[in-house]
Amino acid sequence: MGNSFEGKTVVISGAAGGVGRAAVAQFVENGARVCATDIAASVTDLERGSSGQIVAVPADVTKSMEVEKIFAAAEQRLGPVDVLVSNAGFIISKSAHDTTEDEWDSVMNANAKSFFLMSKRALPAMLQRRTGSIVATGSISSVVGLPEQAAYCAAKGALLQLVRQMAVDYASRGIRVNAVGAGSINTPFLTRYLEGLEDPAAGEAAIKSAHPLGRWAEPKEIADAIFYLSGPAASFVTGQILMADGGYSAR
Ligand SMILES: NC(=O)c1ccc[n+]([C@@H]2O[C@H](COP(=O)([O-])OP(=O)(O)OC[C@H]3O[C@@H](n4cnc5c(N)ncnc54)[C@H](O)[C@@H]3O)[C@@H](O)[C@H]2O)c1
Repeated sequence: MGNSFEGKTVVISGAAGGVGRAAVAQFVENGARVCATDIAASVTDLERGSSGQIVAVPADVTKSMEVEKIFAAAEQRLGPVDVLVSNAGFIISKSAHDTTEDEWDSVMNANAKSFFLMSKRALPAMLQRRTGSIVATGSISSVVGLPEQAAYCAAKGALLQLVRQMAVDYASRGIRVNAVGAGSINTPFLTRYLEGLEDPAAGEAAIKSAHPLGRWAEPKEIADAIFYLSGPAASFVTGQILMADGGYSAR
């Protein structure tokens, strides 16, 4: 079955970033109406010139009142939400003993709590309509321990467990829940990470060689995986993490 989103409403968080922008473009190209949200005000760029197909909402997805603002805008301006793509996130690269309490909370909130809050707000209407698809952007860090990623691995691991739990809870009521397990992606997220290293060139080489495909992903390659899981092409897939990681986790 193909993936047509004609007439569907999709909410995408982290939409001002690399993967988010690629996902917005892909859903729009395939007929969806998209509510694009991000804490960065630059997300409003997406709405301009979109002929009403994109509604942009600057908001912090770690706060339930802001999440309410996102869904109110989506529902009023676009219609009931068919697909949630919970993609916002960021990393603080530190080992556990170096991570402050505030750093732990901010990484857990942006990557895991945000997914809970967005799902919690999306689900009642999906349950009422007995249809819906939720996709979260996970990571290699959802499934393996990586050095100096204490809070990030914990957060992306929590995200994956919530994917599995909700998939089981809601499967009989027509709702699928999945994650993409992304390898390293050529986005501002990765640029910031490399800039924080003592030797960014060595870091880049090490990251690329850690992926059997010998490179990192372009944002569109992760958006492709999100797109697949979101729609009817994945109608019998739920509770899964699709590792779009260049073979990293296969070793
Ligand atoms: N880039 C990588 O190497 C990589 C690898 C694996 C997984 N990921 C995951 O992919 C997803 C997308 O990241 P990206 O690579 O496009 O990075 P990015 O930095 O380009 O985009 C992430 C976006 O999330 C937004 N965001 C962060 N906290 C937010 C909050 N509290 N409320 C609303 N928006 C918030 C940021 O403003 C940013 O625009 C993230 O969940 C990230 O953890 C990235």
